[in-house]
Amino acid sequence: MKTIKDVARMAEVSVATVSRVINESGYVNVDTRKRVEAAIKEINYTPNEVARSLYKRKSKLIGLLLPDITNPFFPQLARGVEDRMQEHGYRLIFGNSDENEVKELDYIRTFVQNNIIGVISSTNYPESDIYQKLKIPIVFLDRTSDDNPSVYADVREGGRIAAREIVDRGSKRITILQGPAHIKPAQDRYLGAIEVLDELGITYNVIQTSSFSYTDAEQWAKEIFDKYIDTDGVIASNDIIATAVLREAYRLGKAVPEDVQIIGFDDIPLSSLLSPSLSTIRQPAYDMGREAAGLLIKLIEQDKVDEKIIQLPVSFVERETTRRKN
Ligand code: RIB
Repeated sequence: MKTIKDVARMAEVSVATVSRVINESGYVNVDTRKRVEAAIKEINYTPNEVARSLYKRKSKLIGLLLPDITNPFFPQLARGVEDRMQEHGYRLIFGNSDENEVKELDYIRTFVQNNIIGVISSTNYPESDIYQKLKIPIVFLDRTSDDNPSVYADVREGGRIAAREIVDRGSKRITILQGPAHIKPAQDRYLGAIEVLDELGITYNVIQTSSFSYTDAEQWAKEIFDKYIDTDGVIASNDIIATAVLREAYRLGKAVPEDVQIIGFDDIPLSSLLSPSLSTIRQPAYDMGREAAGLLIKLIEQDKVDEKIIQLPVSFVERETTRRKN
């Protein structure tokens, strides 16, 4: 791998001079610049991505911010973004925001210092100045903004579908796990579910939850049956929580789906491997990632953009934690 020192040696200049040529920063006389550029070409020196982007002023770097990739939903988003970007010669710099606005600001600053030319972010703060003051294109993904380029799944319809399916399959004493109040897609799916249950005149219980994490899931699963032991249908806020409910039902000696049905949300890869396998609402996470990347590329390359707000459909994945329809 050739280095900047090899270029300096061949062009008989200092490393600092080569750096000034690559970064286009500071004065370099014409003959010296020509010698350096000839040396770069001669030894096929390829500056690292940041140096290259500074050298050519044509960065191909994209910043990707997601809440927490220990939740298996997010790596599917990231994979869709990366694959589409890779197909168009772009590269990613990635960060976990932990839903922390200060950390997001820090990452955005890091992205800009590394000469990125576009951002994709799944954030609870889309209206924040961090994003509104960005001078480069941004696409919000999954957790989005009504007024900015966004890609998300129709999670409100997902909540409706979950409610209809669990009722159609016989549940009458339903408990809904309302996802974190600060997460828009969590609230939207909850509102979709209660809209249908209210339409059907079915009473239901609600357990408030404040995160999607593994560590908290067990406590909410216990709370359901502590408070509503005769629950015969659970609409969970995501698959991680649904998995904890499945485990708690078994611990209590409840048969699934005979005694209690469970429907998750997301359809993370693990859900099909559970026993019984989890019925859930599938968000097309990989395709959402690809769509967000495609939209950002159009914005960067100033191509015609037909739709700046892209909503993808969700679907019910029937597995073994729901009863068969008659
Ligand atoms: O499981 C993580 C949840 O947060 C998903 O349902 C997704 O919508 C994300 O926002």
